[in-house]
Amino acid sequence: MDKFIIPGGVRLKGEVSISGAKNAALPILAGCLLTEEPCSLRAVPDLADIRAMLEIMGELGVDTSRDDDGVLKIHVTDESHSHARYDLVRKMRASICVLGPLLAKRGYARVSMPGGCAIGARPVDLHLRGLRALGAKIELDGGDIIATRDRLQGTEIFLGGPFGSTVLGTANVMSAATLAEGTTMIESAACEPEIEDLADLLNAMGAKIRGAGTPRVTIEGVEQLSGAEHTVIPDRIEAGTFILAAAVTNGDVTLHNCRLDHLHAVVDKLRDVGVAVEKHNGTAVVASARRLCPTDVTTQPYPGFPTDLQAQLMTLLCLADGNSAITEKIFPDRFMHVAELLRMGANIRKEGPTAIVTGVRELIGAPVMASDLRASAALVVAGLVARGETEVRRVYHIDRGYEHIEKKLNQLGANIQRVAE
Ligand code: EPZ
Repeated sequence: MDKFIIPGGVRLKGEVSISGAKNAALPILAGCLLTEEPCSLRAVPDLADIRAMLEIMGELGVDTSRDDDGVLKIHVTDESHSHARYDLVRKMRASICVLGPLLAKRGYARVSMPGGCAIGARPVDLHLRGLRALGAKIELDGGDIIATRDRLQGTEIFLGGPFGSTVLGTANVMSAATLAEGTTMIESAACEPEIEDLADLLNAMGAKIRGAGTPRVTIEGVEQLSGAEHTVIPDRIEAGTFILAAAVTNGDVTLHNCRLDHLHAVVDKLRDVGVAVEKHNGTAVVASARRLCPTDVTTQPYPGFPTDLQAQLMTLLCLADGNSAITEKIFPDRFMHVAELLRMGANIRKEGPTAIVTGVRELIGAPVMASDLRASAALVVAGLVARGETEVRRVYHIDRGYEHIEKKLNQLGANIQRVAE
């Protein structure tokens, strides 16, 4: 297990390029199960969750390889194994997104039911409800979801749940519906850019999807899909993390390959705080004021403020001049970073799904423990601005979702060392 040693007090300065989006690439990889023809994917980031997904795909009869230009080739060569085992699924919850494609293409899928994780219970009832509505028979056996069908039938499906829609649930149902007989209409679909990106790949494969990126997605089923080429969208959460890291260190950073149009809520909130994020010749430039103003924020489904940037924003607000309220509406228990930030001298009080953050003059370096991907990113950002040295333990969490994060930050003037624990 590795840890990061982070000397604090740096000011990030320079240029960084944003990688392809992990959360777009994962359902896109699963979508390639819908065809026996080869697919070529550009900008799939090289990180632990993607490698875990490729391992699962390998067991599902898929050949995968990267060429010298980093293009990932995906080719289904054997459709006889449709079991995503618990040992692999428990490592990465997003493996649930093979369920819809396997069911639609092979007529049978056995996928271990993902468990909870550090950010909460994370049920998959909406995924199953959607697939049942398409005519799948779904049973549970030994902790596995077993889904079977003859041919899926298009229908109207409502995918709203107690916390809004479901991103991977929408991906699963939309992917499965591409091969259904007739037309499917998903109401209350997730509107995240990652869903639109998946639909772009599926349409390039010959699917007929309209409205992806809006709450109503219509899918006209087709007999079969073919191979395709696709470039994954830039990672809006990685970009947001770098923007927040630049802001908290009072830095001056230019981001390449950054889609600011996917970050409206973040840019808008940061303007309230005193951080300017401007578009400039296809790049995003971040500059922040010395004094940061407090603000109130509620996480919401896209296009609202993303839950995946809540922890990193909290680090920033720890240093604002006054009280901020952060309410988590997607995963109400996603506050594992609070206790660690307190160890660094932050002043945060939890009240149910809300954290009241009272700004302090400085954070102080300390040994802290990463608990999930985004919480770890928040602690790294805190380490950069803290007085003294911070040790972030268990950085395997951060390796799941950020490509070479310490190298990219070091390129901007940080001096993070990765050390084996
Ligand atoms: C995706 O998870 C992302 N993961 C998460 O990113 C992200 O935090 C989340 O969407 C919300 O934006 C990937 O894309 C791989 P949901 P997903 O289903 O799709 C409830 C990261 O750090 N719900 O949209 O699994 C659920 O409990 C991660 O990169 C049900 O009730 O999230 C939550 O409250 C972590 N029933 C809400 O819906 C269901 O069947 C939204 O979850 C499914 C979800």
